[in-house]
Order: sequence, then structure tokens, then C-alpha cells
Amino acid sequence: MSRSALIVGNWKMYKTVAEGLELATAIKNATAPTVRGREIAVAIAPPFTALYPIGKRLEGSTVALAAQDCFWEAQGAFTGEVSAAMLADVGCRFVIVGHSERRQQFGETDAAVNLKAKAILKAGLSPIICVGETEKERDAGEMRGRIISQLAEGLFGFTSEMAQRSVIAYEPVWAIGTGRVATTEQAQEVHALIRQYLHAQLGEVAQSVRILYGGSVKPNNIAGLMAQPDVDGALVGGASLRAEEFLQIVRFHEAPATS
Ligand code: 13P
Repeated sequence: MSRSALIVGNWKMYKTVAEGLELATAIKNATAPTVRGREIAVAIAPPFTALYPIGKRLEGSTVALAAQDCFWEAQGAFTGEVSAAMLADVGCRFVIVGHSERRQQFGETDAAVNLKAKAILKAGLSPIICVGETEKERDAGEMRGRIISQLAEGLFGFTSEMAQRSVIAYEPVWAIGTGRVATTEQAQEVHALIRQYLHAQLGEVAQSVRILYGGSVKPNNIAGLMAQPDVDGALVGGASLRAEEFLQIVRFHEAPATS
């Protein structure tokens, strides 16, 4: 079963509108829908303030727009929040939910992730649902249990059609922003675990759900990760903030792993 690859740049809380437009334009101008015959989809997730102008700039290109979070209600008196429908309105196709930074620093729970993911799907967009264990959990032998419980609660009530339109991102917390990428074996082990879980819950659709790896992805480690049978793409943080570095990751077929 071949799944098209997806590389997503998560800009986190970086880039003004002017800086974001410059980066998005460079990515747009250099991105082709296929790299050496393989379909590679590309998305960028700027901060909320830059979504609208960057969405306009990306119109007609193959680069998709993504948001980094949303609230689950469609509208209402929720000061400071943004709904999935509002994100669709400015051209988003994807919304990241459950990122470990939101879980750790803003108290996002698995129940909230579930409500957000459902709202995103209802708005016609695709959630990128993040899961991942901390170093302490891994060291205590709790990695598998942690991943499964995040999936069970985050995808609670999902039909196979909802799963089909969703993307899962495995982001080990210890690998985010640390330069300590998971080994290819560690990534494949967890990606296979996620796919097995999806298969047990939802059946054959598991084969078509894209599972991305995130955590210190760089131009020199992307090819090894992408060579794993259950790694379908990447969620890139720091290395997505410079066009040249991000584009090297997108074109991983052309730059074989050097380490
Ligand atoms: P880094 O690539 O900077 O480790 O960040 C990963 C991440 O959190 C992407 O969502």
C-alpha cells in the first residue's frame, strides 16, 4: 500500500507577517508535487497572525496551509480562541492538535484533543494529531501504554472515514528541539505500533492513514527515517524556519542520509 508522503513545517511562535511571507514564497517557488516520481505533499503551519496573508500567497500552489491549534466550538464567547471553521475560511487544510508543547505548557488533555480533532473534521479539514512519550515514560517502560492511551482518547468515537482524513504525528517529547532524533528503529517501532492499533480499532483504513515523525528532523536524518515502512512523512520544527533547510528535507530523495 503506497501512501503519499507529507512534510509539514511547524513554525511554532516564530515569524512576523513579512518574515513568514518571505519564507512561504521561497518554499512555494521551489516545491514541486513530486520528487523523483514520488508524490510529496508539503504544508506549512505559520502562527495565527500570518495565516491569512500566507494563505493568499500560497493560492494556486501545491503547498498547503496548516494551523497550529484551534478551539472545538464553532463560534461564541470564547475570548482568545479561533475555530476550525475560521481556519478553513483563511485557507487552512490541516490543523495540528495535541502538540506536546500545548499538552505540557497549556494543559491540553486527550479529551480536548478529541473534541478539537472532531471539530476540525467537521469543518472539512484534516487534524494532525500528535502523540508521544516523555523520556521518563520511555525509561520507565511506559512508552507503549502512553501512546495507546493518547490514541484511544484522542481518537475516541472515530469512524474509519474520520481516520482516513486524519494524520497522526509521533513526536517523542525527548526528541523535540533537542537535536536528539529518534533512531530509525525507534521511530519505526512506534509507527508500527500506531498502525497496529489503528488496524485493531478501525480495520483496513489503517493502511492509508499517514503517520508522520517529528523531533529534531534535519536534512541529514530525513532519508533514513523516510526509508522506514511506516514513516510517511515528517513534522519539522526548527529546520522548517529556513527555506534552504526545509527544502532539503522535502527533497530527501535527492540527498541521501549522511549520518
Ligand atoms: P524540532 O524539529 O525543532 O525538534 O520540533 C519538532 C516539533 O515539535 C514539530 O512539531
